[in-house]
Amino acid sequence: MKKYSIIGAGNYLSDIFDIVHANDGKVMEICHNAPDSDSDRSIKTKQRIDLLGYEVRYYRSLDEFVPLEGYEYIMGLARPSKYKLVATIKDRFEINFCQLIHPKAHVGSNVHIGEGVIVAPGVVIAPNAHIGDFSIINRVASIGHESRVGKYSNIGPAATIAGSSNIGNNCIISMGVSILDQINVGKWSVIGAGAVVTKDLPDRVVALGIPAKVTRKNEDSTEHHHT
Ligand SMILES: CC(C)(COP(=O)(O)OP(=O)(O)OC[C@H]1O[C@@H](n2cnc3c(N)ncnc32)[C@H](O)[C@@H]1OP(=O)(O)O)[C@@H](O)C(=O)NCCC(=O)NCCS
Repeated sequence: MKKYSIIGAGNYLSDIFDIVHANDGKVMEICHNAPDSDSDRSIKTKQRIDLLGYEVRYYRSLDEFVPLEGYEYIMGLARPSKYKLVATIKDRFEINFCQLIHPKAHVGSNVHIGEGVIVAPGVVIAPNAHIGDFSIINRVASIGHESRVGKYSNIGPAATIAGSSNIGNNCIISMGVSILDQINVGKWSVIGAGAVVTKDLPDRVVALGIPAKVTRKNEDSTEHHHT
C-alpha cells in the first residue's frame, strides 16, 4: 500500500482522496498550509478529512512538516497560484511530488506527464500530448494528440482540447470548454464554463461564450506579474 502525504488543502481535497484510494493508497498526513476557501458553499477542510473515515496526521504549517522515507507527496492546492507553495517547498525540502493518475483514466502512448500532475477519472489523454508540472486534468476531460498543457494549469471537468493546441502556464479552462485544434491560449488566462475557443487568446484574460470573446483582464494574475 502506498503512503501519501498531501501538502496544501482546498476544495479539490476529496477528489484527491478518491484518486489515492483508487490506486490502493492511503492518506497518511495532510499539511493544510492554506486558508480555507471563502466560498460559503464549500465544506471546510476539516470536514473533508472527517469524511475520509480514518485517522490522518493533520498540521497547519509547513514548519511542522518533516519529509519521511517511503512517502509519496501530492500538491493539494488546485488554483494556479499554487506555484508559490511549490516554490517554497522546493526551496526548503528535497522532495519531488508524485503523479496521481486515476486507474480509470486513459493515457495514450508517448504522453509526457510532469511532476505533481493529477489526472482524474474518465480523462482521456491522446498520444504525444504533454501535461506540464502540477497541472490538474479534471473529471472526463479530453486532451488531444500533440496538445500541450503548461504548468500549474487546471483543465476543468469535461473540457475538450482538440489536437495540436497549446494551453499556457497557470490557466483555468473551466468545465465543458471546447478548444478547437491548433489554438494557443496564453498564460494566466481563464476560459468560462461552456465556452468554445475558436481563435488564439492572449495572456492574462478572461474569455467567455461561443465563440469565446475576451471580457476582461484576469485580475487574479496581476499579483503574479513576474511569472
Ligand atoms: C470565468 C467565470 C469565473 C466567470 O467569470 P466572471 O467574469 O466573474 O463572471 P460574472 O459572474 O461576474 O458574470 C459576468 C457576466 O458574464 C456572464 N457569464 C458568467 N459566466 C459565463 C459563462 N461561462 N459563459 C457565458 N456567460 C457567462 C454572467 O451571466 C454575467 O452576465 P450579465 O452581466 O449579463 O449578468 C465563470 O464563467 C466560470 O467559468 N467559472 C468556473 C466554473 C467551473 O468550471 N467550475 C468547476 C471547476 S472544477
